[in-house]
Amino acid sequence: MTTTSTDIPTTGGTSHKELAAWVEEVAALTTPDSIVWCDGSDEEWDRLTQKLVDAGTFVKLDRKPNSFWATSDPADVARVEDRTFICTKDAEGAGPTNHWMAPDEMKGIMSDLYRGCMKGRTMYVIPFVMGHLESDTPMYGVELTDSEYVVCSMRIMARIGSKILEKMEETDAPYVKCLHSVGAPLAEGQQDVAWPCSETKYISHFPEERMIWSFGSGYGGNALLGKKCYALRIASAMAHDEGWLAEHMLILKLTSPEGKVHFIAAAFPSACGKTNLAMIEPTIPGWKAEMVGDDIAWMRFRNGKLYAVNPENGLFGVAPGTGYPTNQNAMHAIEKGNSIFTNVARTLDGDVWWEGMTDEAPDELIDWRGDTWTPESENKAAHPNSRFCTPITQCPVTAPEFDDPNGVPISAILFGGRRKTTIPLVTEARDWNHGTFIGSTVSSETTAAAAGAVGVVRRDPMAMLPFIGYNAGDYLQHWVNLGREHADAMPKVFLVNWFRRDEDGGFAWPGFGENSRVLKWVVERLEGTGEGVETPIGTVPAEGALDVDGLDMEPGQLEQATKFDVEEWKAEIPLIEEWFAQFGDKLPQELRDELDGLKKRLDA
Ligand code: PEP
Ligand code: MN
Ligand code: NA
Repeated sequence: MTTTSTDIPTTGGTSHKELAAWVEEVAALTTPDSIVWCDGSDEEWDRLTQKLVDAGTFVKLDRKPNSFWATSDPADVARVEDRTFICTKDAEGAGPTNHWMAPDEMKGIMSDLYRGCMKGRTMYVIPFVMGHLESDTPMYGVELTDSEYVVCSMRIMARIGSKILEKMEETDAPYVKCLHSVGAPLAEGQQDVAWPCSETKYISHFPEERMIWSFGSGYGGNALLGKKCYALRIASAMAHDEGWLAEHMLILKLTSPEGKVHFIAAAFPSACGKTNLAMIEPTIPGWKAEMVGDDIAWMRFRNGKLYAVNPENGLFGVAPGTGYPTNQNAMHAIEKGNSIFTNVARTLDGDVWWEGMTDEAPDELIDWRGDTWTPESENKAAHPNSRFCTPITQCPVTAPEFDDPNGVPISAILFGGRRKTTIPLVTEARDWNHGTFIGSTVSSETTAAAAGAVGVVRRDPMAMLPFIGYNAGDYLQHWVNLGREHADAMPKVFLVNWFRRDEDGGFAWPGFGENSRVLKWVVERLEGTGEGVETPIGTVPAEGALDVDGLDMEPGQLEQATKFDVEEWKAEIPLIEEWFAQFGDKLPQELRDELDGLKKRLDA
């Protein structure tokens, strides 16, 4: 980029010289009509949401206070993993699981795309912090974007505005540079569309420079750069360098009937019920569950323990399947308003609806494509990846510790997948390296919801496959190394599977709120009271150790849900070997040893 001084009308500014220079440099390249420094105020929200209503991007919802309905371009509905790049100097830095391009080459391509790309639009400067401003090490970012939708969504998902900028100015603080454009410049007099975007999309990360360049998409994970791009991909690279963990995990607070508190982090690939577990309503008497986070955990060592912070300030949840029967806490959060709904259906009286919200669909809706929809329609009313974007503090089960800048001490990590066979309801890992092995082999069967063959086992290490911002082999070694350096601080690790099937093909375990019974056993294991049986794959609940009081299960069903089957596991070994093969000599020796140990135990 070349630096030229600009005469672009600007509202706001900064005494942070390096930031001022970067903003000027980007403005010279992208040539917006005006520049606005976001203050994060209610007045700003009102002004920008009104601008989006006027543009046809938002419809104000009469039945939800201060809430808006948006439908995207039908080609801009999800994260674009095939257009997502890790741009390290060497290809090895991105590893076998990421797309790679050399930084200079990517910057050349994208600078050409960015040249003049904000013409006819306003460039917004969003100062933000992931995690708490009061943290010992505030994690700053600044997003430059030409999308009002992005500004409003970022205001829900992160802490943004003047307070952040003032604190950055005090120390000329370093920050992650996040550049975003929808890639749709407007010629003089050209009428805008409701959802501007470009057919050409790049979501590029420069971990060595702690920088993100995004072009062409307005969708959440591609455009709200504080979330997946910073808090997972860039932060995972920072965490590797600095000795902490940035993980795709929910954070749950559990209180036993005796008032004992445990905090648990859990990683699940998508479509495995992460949001539901984060907001679980325990079915067992006296147990209380509260949410600290539903998607991302930043975990650092402090006082000999591993403490987790949720870096976000909002929920960006998949709407379909979220309803009163399955997740009333999410529904209550949404009822309070102050939300943006994208690609769900709209009712004629100004509310939202999606599949799974209620048992019966309304008689008539406007679907996510803007067409009239009735229960007879063939298409879904809401896009399967439609989202609610809602302040986390509106959720009735958000734990008070959410506000603690130091986070919460984690005593257990859960890994889970969606498997019809093989993986029992719950297994405790033998130790940290075995837990890392379990995490590194997390697997799910593909469902009909995703393109491609159904029932194929896919691996998703720590549910981080799309989010590791560097070489996945180095990432696994980082997990092993932290366990060696902080042996006493490490949480116990458990593997869970809510999705095992019985002979009739039905789910063997009832799931949802009943998963609290598994959490209870986990807590009892932490406290040394839960009884377990050692098997080659780890410790499973002893007979009678899992509290199934009052649970109406068919004979043999519990056994089916919880059993360890040596033949199923022998069949699993070649799949794990195939998965590990791609890492070559980057596969930690410790994980090779774990696989060998498992094989020996299965053969014994
Ligand atoms: C996203 O797609 O923007 C996102 C938040 O990802 P996911 O919910 O799939 O983790
Ligand atoms: Mn996620
Ligand atoms: Na999410």
